[in-house]
Amino acid sequence: MSTGILSAMAQEQAGLAAHLDGMRVERYAGREFQVGRWHGREVVLALSRIGKVAAATTAAALIERFGVSRIVFTGVAGGLHPDVRVGDTVIGTEFVQHDMDASPIFPRYEVPLYGRSRFLADAELSRCLAQAAQGVVQDESVIDAATRARFGLGGPMRIHHGLIASGDRFVSRSEEAAALRAALPDAMAVEMEAAAVAQVCHDHGVPFAAVRNISDRADDQAHVDFDAYLHEVAGRQARALIAALLPLLPA
Ligand code: ADE
Repeated sequence: MSTGILSAMAQEQAGLAAHLDGMRVERYAGREFQVGRWHGREVVLALSRIGKVAAATTAAALIERFGVSRIVFTGVAGGLHPDVRVGDTVIGTEFVQHDMDASPIFPRYEVPLYGRSRFLADAELSRCLAQAAQGVVQDESVIDAATRARFGLGGPMRIHHGLIASGDRFVSRSEEAAALRAALPDAMAVEMEAAAVAQVCHDHGVPFAAVRNISDRADDQAHVDFDAYLHEVAGRQARALIAALLPLLPA
């Protein structure tokens, strides 16, 4: 069983490849896929790139070309729900494309001809992800005290489970975040890829799970917060999370 591990940007996967035993790089569809073993598990690392189409292309390549039997997405997201703070972790239980709108032909958010607007995470893979994330948030060595203080990560970093909304927009205006909150009140986080990967995995019957660390609140400050978090925190969290996750997965 091979596990595809996707992130949108290189900083979100920083240092992961160094852990792969017998690593080889394959180029396909203009992307690099790093194939190797970690904790005895076969792993394929790839960058989805940014946005739904790029992510769908990468996910399809992981499945069709590399034969992965499950896909995990790790990376950062903007917090939408009032309870979700910078530094928190969101594990997606379901995924919606918040910019999908073929109304009035189909209901708002419904993916045409699928008869559904939301795609589900795989329950067992998500359970493993939650167990791994629990260890990471409790381990104070993952993010040192100085970094925590700089990002205002006071108090326990919490784990939330719920809807992740994906769209081809970086949400960086408070009114836009408020409109998304009003339209999708149960959405925990907003990002640009997971719902597309969820749809591809649904098409192929491949289990999918996604975890997102909250880098910003999708507000007027989002681009500044996102950039700093991406460079200083995201890679460390991803390394700790994947290291904890792989031993939990069936080999
Ligand atoms: N990824 C991280 N923060 C985001 C935001 N505010 N909008 C979209 N994607 C994001």
